[in-house]
Amino acid sequence: MSSGTTSGRRPIGVRIAGTGSALPDRRLTNADLEKLMTTSDEWIVQRTGIRERRIIDRSQGGSTSQLAADALKAALADARLQATDLDLIIVATMTAEMSCPASASLVANMVGAGNCGAFDLTAACSGFVYGLNVAHDLIKGGSYRTIGLIGADALSTLMDYSDAGRSTAIIFGDAAGAVILKATDDTSKGLLAQAMHSDGKGWKEIYVPRCAQDFPPGVEADAGKFDHVQMNGASVFKFAVGTFPELIEQTLESAKVAATDIDMYVCHQSNHRILTAARERFGVAEDKLYINIDRYGNTVAASVPLCFDELRKSGRVRDGQKVMFVAFGGGLTWGSSLWQL
Ligand code: COA
Repeated sequence: MSSGTTSGRRPIGVRIAGTGSALPDRRLTNADLEKLMTTSDEWIVQRTGIRERRIIDRSQGGSTSQLAADALKAALADARLQATDLDLIIVATMTAEMSCPASASLVANMVGAGNCGAFDLTAACSGFVYGLNVAHDLIKGGSYRTIGLIGADALSTLMDYSDAGRSTAIIFGDAAGAVILKATDDTSKGLLAQAMHSDGKGWKEIYVPRCAQDFPPGVEADAGKFDHVQMNGASVFKFAVGTFPELIEQTLESAKVAATDIDMYVCHQSNHRILTAARERFGVAEDKLYINIDRYGNTVAASVPLCFDELRKSGRVRDGQKVMFVAFGGGLTWGSSLWQL
């Protein structure tokens, strides 16, 4: 384990040494939702591209932290490292079980990571991409050598599976994905460009009220909505359709590379139509923008690392390639992370 400050180091690169993911066994299909609320498979598939999602069973010990720990263990095994090799664990999540301790502390304990640093990072669906930028720069700065970064969320715990919640309950699923970031002497590896943005004025487009004071001005406080995601779907859609291409363009420009130089776009899985619109705008080939939303829905901070793990395991993403990670979400937040693997 190595952390703390040192000076006079030679330049270092950052590599992604391993990936892993975890999914609950329980499937919630569109047909299941048809039994719980007024909706239809046809409506859901046409508007979102989602066919099923996975959800945890809390009565069987399912939780965000458990998913995160399982994903981290898989990533450590992939990187051929032990939990005690980690200097720091970061969990990007908006569904930590408790406000204290952080999920990252629970995860550190579950995987046996000893006394390494551990904290949560909350930027909703952008959390993992924000985390990639933060973890990269912590390593690049020389203070940390090995970081476990996990995106984990269990939005099923914040859903209302009745007609009142049908516009959100159809969208979200539970999952976790993890990466191990490691210092390397190969300085060509690491970030080529990054961006992190927010617009706090847009907070009311996606929020989770806990009490009457949390509702935006003009919206009647309703105790039935406490602890359930409230989302203005049409506004978020508009924001995403505009932001996604802008963000990609800005990141390409700052790295001075063309859209076609990117080997794979790993984008937050929010809606099939949003992803397709962004891909078409840049003339990116269909097989360069990965889509798995049909199987898992929108898994918030887990969606990007879950895609990345599937891509690596299937050999579609390899060392030496350029990969662009992009996400947007509640806050409002949006961010990108362009890597030379
Ligand atoms: N099944 C059937 N009908 C539904 C429904 C459901 N699950 N949810 C809403 N509807 C109805 C609405 O009540 C509305 O009916 P009305 O016209 O009679 O009032 C109609 O369908 C259209 O609703 P609307 O919200 O305008 O649909 P939409 O085309 O905007 O699609 C979303 C809704 C949520 C799928 C879409 O807005 C979206 O994907 N937004 C982005 C969300 C997102 O990405 N969130 C994550 C951010 S990280």
